[in-house]
Amino acid sequence: MTTPFIVGSNNESFNKALPASLDENRLPKHIAIIMDGNGRWAKIKKLPRAMGHSAGVDALKSTLRLCSDWGIKVLTVYAFSTENWSRPKEEVNFLMKLFESVLKKEIEYLNIEDVRINFLGDLDELPARLQDLINQAINLTRNNTGINFNVCTNYGGRRELVLAAKKLANRVAEGKLDPSLIDENLFEKELLTSNYVDPDLLIRTSGEKRLSNFLLWQLAYAEIHVTDTLWPDFNEESLRNALLDYQSRRRRFGGLDNAVKDQL
Ligand code: FPP
Repeated sequence: MTTPFIVGSNNESFNKALPASLDENRLPKHIAIIMDGNGRWAKIKKLPRAMGHSAGVDALKSTLRLCSDWGIKVLTVYAFSTENWSRPKEEVNFLMKLFESVLKKEIEYLNIEDVRINFLGDLDELPARLQDLINQAINLTRNNTGINFNVCTNYGGRRELVLAAKKLANRVAEGKLDPSLIDENLFEKELLTSNYVDPDLLIRTSGEKRLSNFLLWQLAYAEIHVTDTLWPDFNEESLRNALLDYQSRRRRFGGLDNAVKDQL
């Protein structure tokens, strides 16, 4: 039996305190995660790949809960890429059904816990029943003020950029926009993430060191934490390690450290 998405089955799981080793003033506002390694996790355990994805949902539930408890404002996860349609039909069907069943089962709890859920991607290519559930979930949680939880579903970074360019080009063609006014600020208003700050931290599990077409614009200055842990094994310690790694970095955004500046 799986526990509800956010609401724990016992009091111990409520509002976990931030570990003392982490500085609450230097937490990332926005964490993005490429949840990789479900298939390998299942293979090691001699289980069908589908079981790896189901275990991945449990890891996601506990990660969302921890991020919410520890004061992270936005969590964005890569659940299904535009390239994932090329997987075997049975696996794609399983994933779509899994998204449906998780949404059906958990949405009420997400709402109780004040989570604001959103889905980023080409949603009109998803099965109609899943689209309905997604719309219900977005509408139900629209006014919540807790953590923003973005699920990238049928998402591709290049596609998102092309769509943004198309929207601006249309406005130019209609005579509503002067092309000389197009700058980074205007461009990012056309992205699916226009309501959120860019991710400060990208976590990728299972040791792969690729972006895989995820949030190509938004990750421009993100710190990247790669762990060999397979996604279903990602737990509180893994998240704490990712945050410790993040807090050990000096973010310079292309500039120089103050210490270096002093030496000049
Ligand atoms: C990557 O592992 C994982 C996915 C493509 C699916 C991720 C989906 C979930 C964890 C479920 C999320 C559910 C909701 C409702 C948001 P992989 O299959 O690529 O693993 P492998 O590289 O080891 O084969």
